[in-house]
Amino acid sequence: MAHRHDSSPRRGPAANGRGVKKIVVLISGRGSNLQAILDAALPVEIAAVISNNPAAAGLEIARRHGIVAEAVDHRAFSSREAFDDALAARIDHFTPDLVVLAGFLRILTDAFVQRYPARMMNIHPSLLPAFPGLGTHRQALAEGVTIHGCTVHFVTPLLDHGPVIVQAAVPVLPDDTPETLALRVLAQEHIIYPQAIRWFAEDRLSIGPGGGVTVHGTTAALSALLSPWEIQ
Ligand code: GRF
Repeated sequence: MAHRHDSSPRRGPAANGRGVKKIVVLISGRGSNLQAILDAALPVEIAAVISNNPAAAGLEIARRHGIVAEAVDHRAFSSREAFDDALAARIDHFTPDLVVLAGFLRILTDAFVQRYPARMMNIHPSLLPAFPGLGTHRQALAEGVTIHGCTVHFVTPLLDHGPVIVQAAVPVLPDDTPETLALRVLAQEHIIYPQAIRWFAEDRLSIGPGGGVTVHGTTAALSALLSPWEIQ
């Protein structure tokens, strides 16, 4: 059963105007990516923020911004399918154009993912396809890579796969711990996730027949990140 914790009727700052896309953001925890999305003042209406965890700090962030914040507690359901059905019902209530997974730590069923083809995005703290799953910063350090980063991608049934929209790379420094590396990556997450949503809002994303994403109107970045770097 879904628990509604707040149903404030106020809408996000971009709720006015014709043709503004609606998004629903799914979170599980602190909500720093949600905060970055809010801070970016995107041309979208954030119709609701939904968490599987009623104690998620991100729900409070949403409420402070006057956005509907709800929990659908996965522990109240006997199966993954039942939870996903209840979650989908709450999402669909808001008729979003885009579902944004922002630190949503539940594995979703194929049936759920297939409800939102090319209209559900995720952010993952690695340069996919490297390091899918959890513990990405620890994995990066264990592998000894010198460049790490984050990826925004459309969600497909295979976990942490799906068409890549944008990636950001950061150097791995000799003294890094998983925590320091996570902070460096997180700063980039807060840049690229709002950017990807903006592109969606502006109808600038398309997925080609081969499954690759084109971002219309952008230019290729021609600089290289070398890590380590030596000044000659
Ligand atoms: C982020 O690192 C995101 O990439 C990962 O979970 C973390 C969520 O952080 N999927 P927050 O809740 O957005 O602060």
